[in-house]
Amino acid sequence: MSKHVVLITGAAGEIGQALVRELAGRGSHILTLDLAEMPAELAPLSTHIKGSITDKALIQQIGEQYTLDTIYHLAALLSTRAEHSPALAHEVNVDASVLLLELAAAQSTARAQAVKFIFPSSMAVYGLPSLEAKAAAGAVPEEQHLHPATMYGANKLAVELLGEYYAQHYMRLAEQPPARLDFRALRFPGLISAFTLPTGGTSDFGPEMLHAAAQGRPYACFVRPDATIPFMAMPDGVKALLQLADAPRAALTRSAYNVSSFSLSAEAFCQRVLAAFPDAEISYQPHLQRQGIIDSWPMDIDDDTARANWGWAPDFGLERCFNEYLIPNIRQRYQQ
Ligand code: SER
Repeated sequence: MSKHVVLITGAAGEIGQALVRELAGRGSHILTLDLAEMPAELAPLSTHIKGSITDKALIQQIGEQYTLDTIYHLAALLSTRAEHSPALAHEVNVDASVLLLELAAAQSTARAQAVKFIFPSSMAVYGLPSLEAKAAAGAVPEEQHLHPATMYGANKLAVELLGEYYAQHYMRLAEQPPARLDFRALRFPGLISAFTLPTGGTSDFGPEMLHAAAQGRPYACFVRPDATIPFMAMPDGVKALLQLADAPRAALTRSAYNVSSFSLSAEAFCQRVLAAFPDAEISYQPHLQRQGIIDSWPMDIDDDTARANWGWAPDFGLERCFNEYLIPNIRQRYQQ
């Protein structure tokens, strides 16, 4: 019998690195897949495959060699990057996801046991048509404003729907109903890590501002001071993924859940950064398209259902996020 593993795609990315650290203590064998090598300090924690999730032969080979108990499918092109290369974004964010969903569905059927497929979606699935609509919408619940204005948002929403298809409807015409995969998705706000920086996202202005200030580098923020979106500390992001994966199936009433922590304008973010690093040089140079993306995302997302169904609650609200997680760890990282 092939080896049982937890597969993490995009494992060398921001969420991936944090997730590998957490999962490593849990005793499962971790198989990581990424275009990049794992950072040296994490390398001993997993069996790593350096390769692309778009590589059909490679995904097939993984399916032949390993029994996948749980898949955390993190690999993606983020929102700004996806606008530069929409066709590539679709290939990576959607087509490759279908390859993995197919594999998970096939293994679920063959073993008569559901493979868990955990997918980080995003507030980018929402699309508000104007600043007035954004202000009026407030904290958006899961079923409203599902009209993304970005390739990335459309990709995330598509995979949510495809995951639900494979989990609930796939092979409906078969005589023997198959054991279907168990698909669970989270819609994240902008995640902020004290240890890594995002690449190619649009919520990046927050973490970029903070990491630049801690290094004594000037930073030109690419959105207006009033631009407001929800954020979350990376440890809470990882906690949400693990909690959702562990939740009893019977408790879940949705396949995609909002999770949020606090909502902040770029100016309020800047004030928090200045309070910790008073010499920081932060200016505003809004970028038309990136500003447009942020304007289309909600000011906040309503996570009541996650709280009610599986006990979601962030550990790091606004104060703790800055005072106990971000600032001390970032100071230490850059040794200020
Ligand atoms: N952080 C992501 C981005 O900015 C949103 O999910 O693309």
